[in-house]
Amino acid sequence: MAPVVLEYWSMNTLHATPAKKPLMVGNWKMKPATLKDAKAIYQKIAKVAGTFRNVDIVVAPPAVFLSELKRTSASKKIKWSAQDSFIKREASATGELSPSQLKSVGVSYVILGHSERRALGDTNEQVRAKMDAALAEGLAVILCIGEHERDRSGEYLGFLEAQLTSAFKGRARTELDRIIVAYEPLWAIGKSAKDAHVQARDVHEMIIFVRKYFADRYGKAVADERVVLYGGSAEPVNAAMLLRDGHADGLLIGHASIVPHEFVEMLSIANTL
Ligand code: PGA
Repeated sequence: MAPVVLEYWSMNTLHATPAKKPLMVGNWKMKPATLKDAKAIYQKIAKVAGTFRNVDIVVAPPAVFLSELKRTSASKKIKWSAQDSFIKREASATGELSPSQLKSVGVSYVILGHSERRALGDTNEQVRAKMDAALAEGLAVILCIGEHERDRSGEYLGFLEAQLTSAFKGRARTELDRIIVAYEPLWAIGKSAKDAHVQARDVHEMIIFVRKYFADRYGKAVADERVVLYGGSAEPVNAAMLLRDGHADGLLIGHASIVPHEFVEMLSIANTL
């Protein structure tokens, strides 16, 4: 563990962070294959979502299903997220979706900088531009950061810091409240919990690292208020560990979020922690 992280850890344990409601985000990616299946999945989640009073729930289906899913079930509990949005608020841009279009169909969050988007070409600069456009439209941003692999000398921390700096440099304090950071190590994404072997320590260390980033720039009180999620191979079997021992403020859930009973089980775990 890098010394800088440890230093904040000791500072943080002296002043325990106030408890936040866990934020559970389901990222459906490019699944399921049909609207019919999407409705079936969503209905099962929406039916019980209202019972989880101690959890905030966000679902990010493929944008093409959004309007229809919203009509399917009037769950007030579930908020909607897009999985990406365009770098500009207005443009001649075939195939893209603007933040205002997403907002107009009831979206309140957008996931930006997901590693799967970055792998398709999104640079830190483009992620920043997308954040600016989405924030200007009034959306909240779930900003994903994550390293490809870890090295013993801790160079991956510099990589993560560059992702954060590109996203936050010069940002007004007031904008921070609409930005959630999701730490998603690429080495854990898309794997089963069993294969990924994510340890609570890996997560806790990075939650502290992100808070420390904000503490250095905005002060400790602002850092403590930030919502920092963990994502990558989150499943019912490791959800409690990631949230409680990893100290994540919530989870960004991929494959388990389209298996209704698994997603619901994770909501239930988060609800009772
Ligand atoms: P996973 O995906 O839960 O399937 O690992 C998480 C993500 O990519 O957001």
